[in-house]
Amino acid sequence: MATQAVTPLQSGALGAPKHVAIIMDGNGRWATKNNVSRSKGHRKGADAVREAIEGAIESGVSYLTLYAFSSENWNRPAEEVSDLMGLLRMYLKKEVRTLSKEGVNLRVIGRREALGKDIQDMIEGAEEKTKNNSRLTLIIALSYGSRDEIVNAAKTIAQSVIDGKQSIDTIDETSVEQALFTHGIPDPDLIIRTSGEQRLSNFLLWQAAYAEFLFLPILWPDFSRLTFASAVEDYLSRDRRFGARS
Ligand code: FPP
Repeated sequence: MATQAVTPLQSGALGAPKHVAIIMDGNGRWATKNNVSRSKGHRKGADAVREAIEGAIESGVSYLTLYAFSSENWNRPAEEVSDLMGLLRMYLKKEVRTLSKEGVNLRVIGRREALGKDIQDMIEGAEEKTKNNSRLTLIIALSYGSRDEIVNAAKTIAQSVIDGKQSIDTIDETSVEQALFTHGIPDPDLIIRTSGEQRLSNFLLWQAAYAEFLFLPILWPDFSRLTFASAVEDYLSRDRRFGARS
């Protein structure tokens, strides 16, 4: 059989990744290693978020998704959940102006209704304030779980069939994509997880179908712009075939 050529559209090796998603892991271990509280570890983790954003902008990435709080994180001790929510409040209050100036469009995915009303209002305000920015779309996953997202999409589609808006025969990958929290956002090209763990932990399961994975041994608070740049370098050296033969 003749060798199938890879079309430019299919090859990720031609340019920087359009969408990088990060599982920010290891704040707790960083805290233990540095003999400080977990709370301090999370604060240092929030500083590393700034590094990731700057790294993404410098690398010409268009979408950056950060897994900040999973549906399962609600099961952590109440004090830690409250700490993380406090940090989120502070982040939204302090960072939105900077994001706005940088041309960043902020979008939140997940069950935002599970968050405090004040946080929901801050998110809405931030999304509104940054909606016309196009340099980088920053997607923060909050109270997010991918299986929950897929169940929610199934319900949305089922309801549209019941309402006569579409028939079962017209359900396809595009209709599923449109019913996900991430509708309109291209699939991640590269998914990075820090802290040495090598699993997806209910993150972007549908969207990760053809993503490249990079598992880094460093703990999230140590993540820097340079780490981002070298992750992109690593991605550029890979050969993406999307199931085709090279
Ligand atoms: C994982 O580390 C990290 C989290 C559960 C929270 C991620 C939050 C941040 C990076 C800071 C806040 C973010 C924003 C956007 C303001 P872990 O606690 O599971 O670490 P461990 O596995 O070493 O215990």
